[in-house]
Amino acid sequence: MKTLIKNGTVVNSTGTATADVLIDGETIAAVLAPGSSLLGFDVESNVDTVIDARGKYVIPGGIDAHTHMEMPFGGTNASDTFETGTRAAAWGGTTSIVDFVVQYAGENILDQYHLWHEKAAGNCAIDYGFHQILSDVQDSSLVAMDELLAEGVSSFKLFMAYKGVFLSDDGQITKAMQKAASNGSMIMMHAENGSVIDLLVQQAVAAGNTSPLYHGLTRPWQAEEEATHRAIMLANLTGAPLYVVHVSARQAVDQIAAARDNGQNVFGETCPQYLYLSLEEQLGAQSGEWGAFEGAKWVCSTPLRSRKEGHQHHMWQALRTNDIQMVSTDHCPFCMKGQKDMGLGDFSKIPNGIGSVEHRMDLLYQGVVDKKISLERWVEVTSTTPARMFGMYGKKGVIQPGADGDVVIYDPNGHTSIGLNKTHHMNMDYSAWEGFEIDGHVDTVISRGKVIVDDNRYVGTKGDGKYFKRGLSQYLI
Ligand code: URP
Ligand code: ZN
Ligand code: ZN
Ligand code: ZN
Repeated sequence: MKTLIKNGTVVNSTGTATADVLIDGETIAAVLAPGSSLLGFDVESNVDTVIDARGKYVIPGGIDAHTHMEMPFGGTNASDTFETGTRAAAWGGTTSIVDFVVQYAGENILDQYHLWHEKAAGNCAIDYGFHQILSDVQDSSLVAMDELLAEGVSSFKLFMAYKGVFLSDDGQITKAMQKAASNGSMIMMHAENGSVIDLLVQQAVAAGNTSPLYHGLTRPWQAEEEATHRAIMLANLTGAPLYVVHVSARQAVDQIAAARDNGQNVFGETCPQYLYLSLEEQLGAQSGEWGAFEGAKWVCSTPLRSRKEGHQHHMWQALRTNDIQMVSTDHCPFCMKGQKDMGLGDFSKIPNGIGSVEHRMDLLYQGVVDKKISLERWVEVTSTTPARMFGMYGKKGVIQPGADGDVVIYDPNGHTSIGLNKTHHMNMDYSAWEGFEIDGHVDTVISRGKVIVDDNRYVGTKGDGKYFKRGLSQYLI
């Protein structure tokens, strides 16, 4: 099967050109000047399918490097399965995810890793890789880090919060970092001071402050800044590369920027919710179908931050200047009915997470329209850097010969209305992005040479997506 995408504007992180893209089987075979021949053969008359992309962007498929499909968390399971979540991702122009294998304290890491393969295999619409969550780091965890590396799991998430669930203490974190420094893997950090947060939560609930807003007020920016700084210092001590996940506080951004200025391998990820949404408008919402509980829709950790304090503005700026390197969703959806509502009367029982896997490419494209980032930067933060950061670049994250045929045709003259009854395909009973309007549209999504979304129709098949064995990070300095 050969496909020619002709006359499109090909956008890579390195630049933009009008070009034809030839995909042969699962792989990009050539990027050609429009209408050119290849070794004397007329290309167009020698392919099976021709797609005219005139006036549209041809970009490498999105890579969402932070998802939690069907994650057991907060006494329930994230509501998207690998099947529903990856199909929604495809709808939105994402052709790869990296999901987190969960190990709770006491569970066998390798058993969990195999369990996640069982959940995903044969169910995914797009390619997938895995990071490994390590809770309560033990000597056996260090052995598992070497074993998993050979399986293509080259990044390990640790937690400085969620005591008794995920939290590792500083000694345990240091041990895992020493291992990462020696085997070349990446440490990913949930950077919030868990002890401080646990105390503030206890005090808020005891004082009868139980509405969703208090989820944010009990996880203040100081708890994020402090933990981010501590993680950076432990990474400095051990020499481990450090990737701070879901950064929301401007003060945490500044810690990351300072470490990078200092020459350290420290990287920051943010998410669309920290660019667009706020503590005041969403988490503190007091009206809507759920009344005073409306804010539960946006309970996630790190929490949404105050717009008055300027976090969102600072985050866009950091994204533009590469103080923050990339955008993932932290897709961890829960329905309001039967899941989020477990926290009616006590915000600390609301399962933490927001669903956005379908909308990341659109939401970030709106940043291009609004002149917050360039077109090339859009591709870089949503595809190229995720590929380089997590050892996929060359096959993923770029339109060039030899890369996987993961291509999105994006229409800058199209329009996307986001909402539960509009473009939403995630398994949720609400949308965290209800009412957002995007001046662009995902037209065609191609995964390893196969069209899976074709102008508002899903035409792929469950199981199209395959496990991607990742290498070491290609982003280290
Ligand atoms: O609220 C969140 N972020 N839920 C997912 C788990 C995590 O910490 O990433
Ligand atoms: Zn986290
Ligand atoms: Zn997460
Ligand atoms: Zn369209």
